[in-house]
Amino acid sequence: MSERLRIAITKGRLLDQSVKLFEQAGLDCSPIKDPGRRLIHAVPNYPLDAVLAKAPDVITYVEHGVCDLGIVGRDTILEKGGAFYEVLDLGYGKCRFALAVKEGSDFYGTYKTRRIASKYPEVTRAFFEKKGMDVDIIKIEGSVELAPILGLTDAIVDIVETGATLKANGLVPIETVAEVSARLIVNTASMKLYKNQISDFIAKCEAQLEGKA
Ligand code: PRP
Repeated sequence: MSERLRIAITKGRLLDQSVKLFEQAGLDCSPIKDPGRRLIHAVPNYPLDAVLAKAPDVITYVEHGVCDLGIVGRDTILEKGGAFYEVLDLGYGKCRFALAVKEGSDFYGTYKTRRIASKYPEVTRAFFEKKGMDVDIIKIEGSVELAPILGLTDAIVDIVETGATLKANGLVPIETVAEVSARLIVNTASMKLYKNQISDFIAKCEAQLEGKA
């Protein structure tokens, strides 16, 4: 008898793209597309239940094994880390982490300790540690672009997709910190327990991605 797999999917843009991928793979996503306030939805024609969650919670649920699979951005994976298998680059949700400064400012042209604002302090820490550069990191919860404009920091590390937000606020990207896209992750125990079903699901997704390549 085949067990139903449970997949946690990041709400928002990644959910829309994930639904598109699943539908191309033949999964009936009508319950997920009309979720109301329900957070768990059964796929009627495939043994899969979709759990709609915030990105960091997707990792938490997969790590603890209450969800077998997850779809989450590499941004969250890099920031939060965790023990799970990252099995597939889904190719959507593409953006990058960039280091950005106020237009005209010379970030590297000083010996004083630079201050960096970010919603992603761990990604920022790892980036500057790799460079052997000592920086002060200030965690900001939203609209991180404000920090250098207000004179709080010398730079930001943030997600850049089109670059429009940086531009509108007089900031310029000076370095790419990491490339980001949606990833399929798998709980380590589930991978062994439900190997065949998980392989079948991965193959279904992969076939669609290859079809598009
Ligand atoms: C992200 C990021 C930037 C913006 C960049 O915020 O923090 O503000 O997108 O996109 P752009 O390069 O296309 O202008 P998001 O909209 O994801 O909201 P958030 O504050 O929840 O991170």
